[in-house]
Amino acid sequence: MFAVQFGRFGPPEVLEVGRRAEPHAGPGEIRVRAAAAGVSPVDLALRAGSSPSRDTLALPHVPGVDASGIVDEIDAGVDGVAVGDEVFGSVDIARLGGASAQFAVLAFWAAKPASMSWAAAGAAGTSVETATRALDALGVAAGTTVVIDGAAGGVGSIAVQLAAARGARVIGTGRPGSHAFLADLGAVPVAYGPGLAERVRALSLDLDLDLDLDLGPAGLALDVAGAGGLDELIAITGNPAAVLTLADFTGPARGVRLSLGQYGGEPDGRHGLALAAALSAQGRFRVPVRDVFPAARAAAAHAAAARGPRQGKVVLDLAGLPGSP
Ligand SMILES: NC(=O)c1ccc[n+]([C@@H]2O[C@H](COP(=O)([O-])OP(=O)(O)OC[C@H]3O[C@@H](n4cnc5c(N)ncnc54)[C@H](OP(=O)(O)O)[C@@H]3O)[C@@H](O)[C@H]2O)c1
Repeated sequence: MFAVQFGRFGPPEVLEVGRRAEPHAGPGEIRVRAAAAGVSPVDLALRAGSSPSRDTLALPHVPGVDASGIVDEIDAGVDGVAVGDEVFGSVDIARLGGASAQFAVLAFWAAKPASMSWAAAGAAGTSVETATRALDALGVAAGTTVVIDGAAGGVGSIAVQLAAARGARVIGTGRPGSHAFLADLGAVPVAYGPGLAERVRALSLDLDLDLDLDLGPAGLALDVAGAGGLDELIAITGNPAAVLTLADFTGPARGVRLSLGQYGGEPDGRHGLALAAALSAQGRFRVPVRDVFPAARAAAAHAAAARGPRQGKVVLDLAGLPGSP
């Protein structure tokens, strides 16, 4: 089969389309003829050689942890899905990739609703699963207020919508140029970076009149960015246990919970995908896609994913690979 892959660590230009052996569905897995694959921070780190997995990665490696496609192979132990179904989902993170190829093996998935394009569905899996798990762990529900730091990115833009769909009030941080995007997703936008606690406090007072926005004892915070915002989030909530980070490994030493999700080997990776699909079909959820690149331009896709402003996902369209839907 054909795949986007890299044979050595380095800049985006090490990516190329090449031939390799077809993968097959292992226990509990399905294989899809892939249509699209999201580009995620983990893909960039693996390609650059800056990931801790560098020493164990078999090269050439096919990046990509999320894909959409048409099911063409199903492990004998798997129920509820048939060859020919249109699905989206994610690889088992132990595989560290494999999505940006003619055939991709998925460990968890959901039926792709007609309301999701192949590109949007191909970018959704890990971000939906990660966001859902984090919102659950924090107890985000109707009546709570959650500050999401790094709200415009791949995971953040999805966490904002899923929190809003639960009936929570959402304050989302982003650079000023991303504020209209954040408001459209359902967040009250505020600038990220130093001084965040003061800005949120001011916002809370300003909006109190109109929206009854009061972080109060139900105030929660989710750090998606891992960009040094934890102290501000602790100050906002007044309680490190009300803060959860996905990306800052200094969190636990400060009493902040760290959720590594699939990356930490936590089970139940299917979490949230079917709900996101249902919300999408109702017009209450979308996977923001900021750019789609053909597989042949994978280097440009990785370069774009590393560049701000990062609003939603960058996606590889695999239709140019022979045999893709
Ligand atoms: N633990 C898990 O299960 C898990 C799963 C998936 C991802 N992650 C990690 O979560 C992180 C985010 O992933 P992602 O896919 O959402 O990445 P992304 O799409 O690159 O988004 C990152 C966002 O953070 C914003 N940002 C930059 N500097 C910031 C700052 N100082 N304060 C607040 N926000 C800032 C960016 O805004 P601008 O571009 O506008 O500057 C961007 O919107 C990555 O580190 C990723 O590895 C963890």
